[in-house]
Amino acid sequence: MTLKIQIINGPNLNLLGKREPDIYGHLTMDEIKKEVESHSQKKNITTNFYQSNIEGEIVDKIQEISENMDGLIINAAAFTHTSVAILDALNTLKIPKIEIHISNVFAREEFRHKSMISKSVNGVICGFGLNSYILGIDAVESIIKNENK
Ligand code: DQA
Repeated sequence: MTLKIQIINGPNLNLLGKREPDIYGHLTMDEIKKEVESHSQKKNITTNFYQSNIEGEIVDKIQEISENMDGLIINAAAFTHTSVAILDALNTLKIPKIEIHISNVFAREEFRHKSMISKSVNGVICGFGLNSYILGIDAVESIIKNENK
């Protein structure tokens, strides 16, 4: 069985590689995408990457994927800390959902310690750089495998 996992990235993540590399590393979003794809292919998982700087577009994307994906990985970036709209959209989606962050948000400013969206996801992975995405793939896969046991 091939699993389909949607990956949604929020604002400023299009600038990865250039943006605060001491915090977010040197890899671009395209390079992360390639690494995640090669990890996923070995597991017979297909991934679909999406990035937007616009909150409403992220809500639209969540509504659009509805049940045609097996799982969702979301790095909502700054909207993590503010967006009731993204939380509400996630609440309508009944597939495994993992919130991820490249940086360890708990080792940073206090306003990053609060997530509006964690309530709606199965789990949160943060602080592992590129590997937060890879671990997210493994987490979605393990939830689905356990559901089918
Ligand atoms: C981030 C952490 C957020 O606090 C920040 O606003 C981001 C990226 C991360 O991946 O570490 O843009 O989600």
